[in-house]
Amino acid sequence: MLVGDRVRLRAMEPEDAEALWRWNNDPEVMRWMVDTHPTTLHDTRTRMAEWPRNSHARLTLGIETRADMRLVGAIALSGAEPEHGRGTIDLYLGERDTWGSGFATEALRLICAYGFDEMRLHSIDLSVADGNAAARRVYAKVGFQEIGRARHAFRRAGRWHDMVLMDLLEPDLVRA
Ligand SMILES: CC(C)(COP(=O)(O)OP(=O)(O)OC[C@H]1O[C@@H](n2cnc3c(N)ncnc32)[C@H](O)[C@@H]1OP(=O)(O)O)[C@@H](O)C(=O)NCCC(=O)NCCS
Repeated sequence: MLVGDRVRLRAMEPEDAEALWRWNNDPEVMRWMVDTHPTTLHDTRTRMAEWPRNSHARLTLGIETRADMRLVGAIALSGAEPEHGRGTIDLYLGERDTWGSGFATEALRLICAYGFDEMRLHSIDLSVADGNAAARRVYAKVGFQEIGRARHAFRRAGRWHDMVLMDLLEPDLVRA
């Protein structure tokens, strides 16, 4: 378990499927996410059961508030290969009433520190839709920098959007 001041990151349990299913069917939450097809609770449970076990190559964790032990989101660090020292982040907070509380920033700091300190990564990357200003702000606060763009790589509500590629080198992590 990775413990911060206000959130902790913990392994996900089968009972978490219902929250994931609810978030994945919330258009506001999925607004800037790439994989947004409506999904059944059954499919969500099956998909979770097929997730590989957490390891030094792939980590998927629930974001839980410390104050009330409420699951509010999920974060993953995957594709880690020791020979490249690089991994990729996915992050979302599904409980909309918690947006703007700093939880995503803290969760991201925790998992990046774990990636550098324990998984021996040297850099971490991610991609984000150019219109997702809140997410881009979170990534910038933690030290991620834009390294390029895939132009018109993402279509939402009849419009094309660029995907912004960002990465973070180990010394650039803003730990607090
Ligand atoms: C994007 C998301 C992760 C942010 O989570 P959060 O817990 O609200 O983030 P934080 O509270 O830690 O920080 C949000 C920051 O963005 C800023 N922000 C919020 N909305 C913004 C907007 N429209 N434009 C610019 N900045 C914005 C906040 O002011 C804050 O910055 P500050 O601390 O400098 O004031 C969350 O809203 C989410 O999961 N959304 C749905 C899924 C998603 O988009 N995931 C990311 C996919 S790449």
